[in-house]
Amino acid sequence: MTTTLLRRTLLAAALLAPLVSMAADKPLVMGFSQVGAESEWRSANTASVKDAAKQAGISLKFADAQQKQENQVKAIRSFIAQKVDVIAFSPVVESGWDTVLKEAKAARIPVILTDRAVNVSDPSLYVSFIGSDFVEEGRKAGRWLLERAAKTPSASLNIVELQGTVGSAPAIDRKKGFEEVIKANPKLQIIRSQSGEFTRAKGKEVMEAFLKAKDKKIDVLYAHNDDMAIGAIQAIEEAGLKPGKDIVIVSIDGVKGAFQAMLAGKLNVTIECNPLLGPQLMQLARDVVAGKPVEKRITVIEGVFPAEVAAKELPNRKY
Ligand code: AHR
Repeated sequence: MTTTLLRRTLLAAALLAPLVSMAADKPLVMGFSQVGAESEWRSANTASVKDAAKQAGISLKFADAQQKQENQVKAIRSFIAQKVDVIAFSPVVESGWDTVLKEAKAARIPVILTDRAVNVSDPSLYVSFIGSDFVEEGRKAGRWLLERAAKTPSASLNIVELQGTVGSAPAIDRKKGFEEVIKANPKLQIIRSQSGEFTRAKGKEVMEAFLKAKDKKIDVLYAHNDDMAIGAIQAIEEAGLKPGKDIVIVSIDGVKGAFQAMLAGKLNVTIECNPLLGPQLMQLARDVVAGKPVEKRITVIEGVFPAEVAAKELPNRKY
């Protein structure tokens, strides 16, 4: 190499160095579409994602879909237009994602599902799912009730069910898992089942309607989340009944509100669903963007908390 050529090469390297380092320092950008703010669980999940992004130095573009699929589709399209490095979202409902996920794939932006799964024709439309096993949560609720029923002398136990958002993975799976288990005991019968949209207000409204029907005695309430159970507790009290005693209440999530209701003797058991997915999600996003191989489905380990352990467990609860 001649001296002039060497000088030119060194000069070019010196000029490029700051650009190369800027690129290396550029934070990873994640577009995150959240379901909404419908429950205590969801607020804890949002806080976990935002805190973890900050801790991990990931630039987060956060969009709240207000429980509407069309808002999530718009948010994902906007993340694609902004050329984010990775898209993560918690889908409101299971179906109807093929088109927008194909658009993300065509733009070479990896998609991670968090909390809720999707039903798509081509599983390569997302790289990984991280969240709970909702069917197993339903089974745990069913198993707890089976044990309780075995100790209850009455000939029949009428159950009313407050389902989550229609078409959402947790509503579909929690119903499925619960039904799969309770069929072992024919005295357990679901006499009414309706969506309470995962909110306290709707949970209360639907429970009021269940109670007004008065055609059959209600022995058990199975609520797909704690917020609906808490709303229903209000309806039960307003109807002059004792929640947790006149009507046994089984719900899912394990939020602090449920532990307080158990301490007050108004709720019998909550099945844990862990919303603190942020740190694992950020690590997963880094691995995906770095091209590392990742698991297609990552599920979290969760417990069952009956009222008897509520006082001991409440101080340990993080959400
Ligand atoms: O997808 C998780 C569910 O969504 C939680 O059980 C519920 O509280 C939330 O709204």
